[in-house]
Amino acid sequence: MNGPVIVSEIPGPRSRELMNLRKEYVPRGLFEFTPIVIDEAKGPFIKDVDGNVYIDFATGIAVTNVGHVPGVVYEAITGQASRLLHTCIHVASYESYLKLAEKLVSLSPISGAAKAFFLNSGAEAVENAVKVARYFRKAIGIITFEYAFHGRTLLTMGLTSKFKPYKYGFFAFVPGVVRLPYPYPYRCPFGSKDEEECGLIALEFIERAFKTHIHPDETAAIIFEPIAGEGGYIVPPKSFVKGLRELADKYGVLLIVDEIQTGMGRTGKLFALEHFGIEADLVTLSKGMASGLPISSVVGRRDVLDSVHVGGIGGTFGGNPVSAAAALATIDLIMDSLPHAEEVGRILRKRLDELYDEYEVIGDVRGLGPMQAIELVKDRRSKAPWKSLTENIIKSALSRGLILISAGIYGNVIRLIPPINIDYDVLDRALGIFEESIRDALRNL
Ligand SMILES: Cc1ncc(COP(=O)(O)O)c(C=O)c1O
Repeated sequence: MNGPVIVSEIPGPRSRELMNLRKEYVPRGLFEFTPIVIDEAKGPFIKDVDGNVYIDFATGIAVTNVGHVPGVVYEAITGQASRLLHTCIHVASYESYLKLAEKLVSLSPISGAAKAFFLNSGAEAVENAVKVARYFRKAIGIITFEYAFHGRTLLTMGLTSKFKPYKYGFFAFVPGVVRLPYPYPYRCPFGSKDEEECGLIALEFIERAFKTHIHPDETAAIIFEPIAGEGGYIVPPKSFVKGLRELADKYGVLLIVDEIQTGMGRTGKLFALEHFGIEADLVTLSKGMASGLPISSVVGRRDVLDSVHVGGIGGTFGGNPVSAAAALATIDLIMDSLPHAEEVGRILRKRLDELYDEYEVIGDVRGLGPMQAIELVKDRRSKAPWKSLTENIIKSALSRGLILISAGIYGNVIRLIPPINIDYDVLDRALGIFEESIRDALRNL
């Protein structure tokens, strides 16, 4: 497969026909970023049912980090599927689960001895990390931040920040959650122009919250994302991340690092935390773990995870044999792809910085490695978010064969998250389309 190749209007007739089924039978509450229906995908390309081929810069929201259907992952899946589909880890153990736990423990940025267990979705991993943290600490409090996204279940929705659409109308959340300001360097909530200073002030809020909101003895954990993903691809200052570790140590509170979007090579390192030089007590993983098969994990300090009584954690499908086999093959491929990923990140960032110099509507370029984003504003002085322009750029890109998605509290951030092993010429083609799409959207204001 190669692309982009556009052979019909978008959406084409077959996509439109199938989308009628979606309209009729699927609740409207699910996001619908594009109106196309996909037939097959390989590497960085996606082909729709009308034969249009797109370059995929959304990677299924940071899932197909090493491309669609990598050969080695396909072989691992089919090999495992022919032998064993399910026992449930509670009933009888199997090799792929155990080998995956061993691998993640050996690779994860956890201080000291660690263990790992598996679940089905990102939100379920976060639920479990919080459950275990509360159990271990015998404390209810969880400190979370503005701009955070940790999922849509009843507990994780309460940890997530953005009200509409994620929380609006769903009412009471799980008690004990304290939300504090997040150091968003481009829009520092304290008005600071200095990124590191912004981070330090955010830490002071936590110290103050321990006096005014919740006592550290009653706080189980602080949870944060090394890059606030859905919140707008916001990279926190180093001072903040290092300070979170120091505060957690000072007060004996656990540090849960949600790497569901940032992990698995997404930032050019296996874990984004490696950019900050600290270790976590618990890490949550999912998305990019298994190239699209559903699986998630909590990797954490052995004393913390082993504190829970038998039967207190787990689930029927968590870490099923096929997903675990896919994860083992995916992680090996990610590890091999990391040097390439760093170069992809450098090229991407350089091109985005050039676009920043060219287009006033780009207020900010940010990210780590091949997890980058631009924030669109009406003008650089007011920084007024420009959501409609963002939508028009994404639409224009789709019509030219490039799939992009937005992010952010104001819906004015475009994330650029290609497969980390994308060929340089495909990357170059996609970035050319991206620039054309910006120009097109500005021309058609
Ligand atoms: C950082 C983070 N945590 C948790 C989740 C929830 O994962 P899931 O959608 O698999 O429940 C997401 C999903 O976008 C995420 O980005």
